[in-house]
Amino acid sequence: MATIKSILHETRVFPPEAAFVKQANLSSMEAYYALCDEAEKDLDAFWGKLAREEVMWHTPFSRVLDESNHPFFKWFDDGELNVSFNCLDRHLASQPDKAAIIFEADDGKITLSTYRDLHGRVCRFANGLKSLGISKGDRVIIYMPMSIEAVVAMQACARIGATHSVVFGGFSAKSLHERIIDAGAVAVITADEQHRGGKINHLKTAVDDAIALGGTDSVKSVVVYKRGSGDVQWHVSRDVWWHELTNGKSDVCEPEWIGAEHPLFTLYTSGSTGKPKGVQHSSAGYLLGAILSMKWVFDYKPTDIFWCTADVGWVTGHSYVTYGPLAVGATQIVFEGVPTYPDAGRFWKIIQDHKVTTFYTAPTAIRSLIKNGPDLPGKYDLSSLRLLGSVGEPINPEAWMWYYTVVGQSCCPVVDTWWQTETGSHMIAPVPGAVPLKPGSCTLPLPGIMAAIVDEAGHDIENGKGGFLVIKRPFPSQARTLWGDPERFRNTYFPKELGGKYYLAGDSANRDLDGYFWIMGRIDDVLNVSGHRLGTMEIESALVASPLVAEAAVVGKPDDIRGEAIVAFVVLKGTRPQGESAHNIAIELRNWVSQEIGPIARPEEIRFGDNLPKTRSGKIMRRLLRTLAKGEEITQDISTLENPAILEQLKQPIA
Ligand code: WT7
Repeated sequence: MATIKSILHETRVFPPEAAFVKQANLSSMEAYYALCDEAEKDLDAFWGKLAREEVMWHTPFSRVLDESNHPFFKWFDDGELNVSFNCLDRHLASQPDKAAIIFEADDGKITLSTYRDLHGRVCRFANGLKSLGISKGDRVIIYMPMSIEAVVAMQACARIGATHSVVFGGFSAKSLHERIIDAGAVAVITADEQHRGGKINHLKTAVDDAIALGGTDSVKSVVVYKRGSGDVQWHVSRDVWWHELTNGKSDVCEPEWIGAEHPLFTLYTSGSTGKPKGVQHSSAGYLLGAILSMKWVFDYKPTDIFWCTADVGWVTGHSYVTYGPLAVGATQIVFEGVPTYPDAGRFWKIIQDHKVTTFYTAPTAIRSLIKNGPDLPGKYDLSSLRLLGSVGEPINPEAWMWYYTVVGQSCCPVVDTWWQTETGSHMIAPVPGAVPLKPGSCTLPLPGIMAAIVDEAGHDIENGKGGFLVIKRPFPSQARTLWGDPERFRNTYFPKELGGKYYLAGDSANRDLDGYFWIMGRIDDVLNVSGHRLGTMEIESALVASPLVAEAAVVGKPDDIRGEAIVAFVVLKGTRPQGESAHNIAIELRNWVSQEIGPIARPEEIRFGDNLPKTRSGKIMRRLLRTLAKGEEITQDISTLENPAILEQLKQPIA
């Protein structure tokens, strides 16, 4: 991959700017190392102290880490709290009139919600949910556009102790159906419409389609927030409008005090098999991770205007839209639209208009904005910015340099944050007032995060070489299990091959001689398309579900904007199509995948063969397919290949 090659040759170093250091929460390597040492010496004391300082407890905890049932760790187990209380009520006395959310709609309309207002909205909606019979321990699916209401829905679930599971609005009815069933959800919260880039997506229709697929008897209510003006189909027995549900409800709702380990949410993510996994997070440990990373990595100050561009359908939107910024009492921007609508200056205009200080986005967005208007940032006043962040995939050094010099005017640190749905919050990321930056490296682990690189047997690898990225000791914000599948949790993240002790992240990484981490990519069959995780097996299952398809194999190929693009090699049930007919079937299959999983999974290219390249024992040779997808000549040994002639057929893209 071009990114990886350029990363490996990177030698530039950017020490923190004096002006930034002066105001930083953590402002020297000594301060950073002191925290790391504290954690090394006594992990319990380190996290226990932070949990007491940063989280508001209803009942204090007496134990910090319980690892007796490895790897199902418990943190602060006998403590009680409420996460929504920690995000809202705790600010009511000190800053009720401070803006909590500045919402900018796709069409530019702005709505502001103060901490007092947001608290009232959350309480009213929580009371509404209660009136539907929803209570502690129930699972609720949230399928909503970016909106104040999406945050309210999540916070209201947290308030009553219901476990939410947000499904990204770009997922299909089929994907939604699968998640509703896996979670055994009692309710779905949605909106009539989603508006992005001037286009309308009918979310409520997708919910109806999902429920019509059957097996969803657990769902008693569908709550619909009215975002648009079109008609929607109505099922009186289960559908209820958001505004009718909250109408007349009290704006006081006593929070449900729950145990520290109570599941705050599950979030589905892709893995090596066809079935998405419901990553389950705790309440207290998760919250602590979100708060600390706001302070350590984003160097949060009460005067900040914080903007994370991620959708609440991803973990980034959970930790750095719904929970982290509110827990620290920040003012944040929530944006409904897309970076390129009405033009590629939209992000810069929002930063200028709202005087954003802290901006957090993905490399794929940065690359697409470089392509669509490298000089556009210069047309806006971006002088309010003081910190830039990146997340989702490795950022190539050239994109990093553009972000740093053109957007940040060479005075804002760029924090490249490595973490995952499973880790809940940042793991390896610069503490910007202390750690010198290297473009393309996520730098050093946060205090208390014992990240390391090991070989196949779990042995440490010396700096300067690559291997598997692991985290050796438990940390509070890590996932507790996979919903309904603890064995899969253990096998995936604590595999026996590595001794079963370390958390295996699923990424390969290098550590340079200064101890800096350079993430190289996934070690499993997971693709990273525009910063989103997609399992190749998931896409293959979708393809094979088409009546036309006999067999399919999916690989990624490098893509300048999206990081990776999906290439599918397909064997049809009939004969191999050619010319016009191949073209049409390819289009049909791409749309099919989009409908099965969602538009993000639509293959970029489809190629047809009479068969797939297989070994004599029948195993598909994916490394050959990856070479073909890149358009490169095969130089690998193909002596074990059963049917070499197939390679010729699969060389050419159809559509
Ligand atoms: C995978 C996790 C964490 C929120 C967004 C994605 C890749 C993520 C970085 C980064 C290099 C990164 C990894 C990781 N990744 N951030 N800063 N540098 N790679 O969450 O969908 O759970 O995906 O994204 O491969 O394992 P996710």
